[in-house]
Amino acid sequence: MSKSRPNILQKELKGELHTSKHGVIYHGDCLELLGVIRSESIDCVFADPPFNLRKRYGPRAVDNTSADKYSHWCERWMSECVRALKPGGAIFVYHITKWALRLGSLIENNGLVFRHWIAVSMKNNYPRGNGLYPAHYALLYFTKGKPRVFNKLRIPIPACRHCGKEIKDYGGHRGKLKEEGLNLSDFWEDTSPVRHRKFKKREANELNPMIPERAILMSTKPEDIVFDPFGGGGSSYMVAEKNNRFWIGSEIEDCSPILERLEEQTGVTFNQIPERRITEVFQKQWW
Ligand SMILES: C[S@@+](CC[C@H](N)C(=O)[O-])C[C@H]1O[C@@H](n2cnc3c(N)ncnc32)[C@H](O)[C@@H]1O
Repeated sequence: MSKSRPNILQKELKGELHTSKHGVIYHGDCLELLGVIRSESIDCVFADPPFNLRKRYGPRAVDNTSADKYSHWCERWMSECVRALKPGGAIFVYHITKWALRLGSLIENNGLVFRHWIAVSMKNNYPRGNGLYPAHYALLYFTKGKPRVFNKLRIPIPACRHCGKEIKDYGGHRGKLKEEGLNLSDFWEDTSPVRHRKFKKREANELNPMIPERAILMSTKPEDIVFDPFGGGGSSYMVAEKNNRFWIGSEIEDCSPILERLEEQTGVTFNQIPERRITEVFQKQWW
């Protein structure tokens, strides 16, 4: 690991900044970090916020507040993310459907253009009261005007977990589809949660990395900058690094699970001066 170098930005923020060549993680509140980010400097935002469902992330994160306060807080970080987004940039927000509906209208009120409501299959949930069994999360996808990048993604033909045979009959197209894969739709059934402790860095959260990875790959090109305000176990930073994108984000609780994951799984080293592409995102010439 390279020698630790001081940077001036650190003095202007309350928490600690962890910097690598391609990424920066702020140990603190996302609104503080957003406060030092330039307008129209980010290519893609991926946000998987606390859902206000009384999860215990740690001593600092609040996940049990009134619906009004929660909505107000979401509006604050969301409008800051929209300000930071470049024209043509993309924003993805992952949430339960009830809140996705409200957050979607907040994003639209901020002037963004709706692209997709991606239904992400929810496994092993329980029926609640006299309602329907909840079977999906929403991944909202908006852009700031016309999308700057849209890459069509393809996925392998789905096969039965038990017998390995294809689930659908593709008739005469099968050969081509087998080779090229299916076009990705807005219904993702193959993104089951990270279950096994061995593969998890945090207990109460952590998405299957495939979810942020698809969002990033469809909406950015190499060397673009991805921002994730809610680091959790660092899934989005990890896939950004693996796919040659720059990444910036925050986590209000202990950041060591993120740092360890990045070091172990992508070979990132911290205490480095970030490349110019990253330093330019901040409001002053800090490094
Ligand atoms: C649902 S988790 C994100 C999981 C992440 N997408 C992953 O796959 O690992 C939400 C995270 O946001 C963090 N958090 C809550 N409030 C925050 C805030 N104001 N600023 C930054 N992070 C916050 C929580 O501690 C929690 O780790």
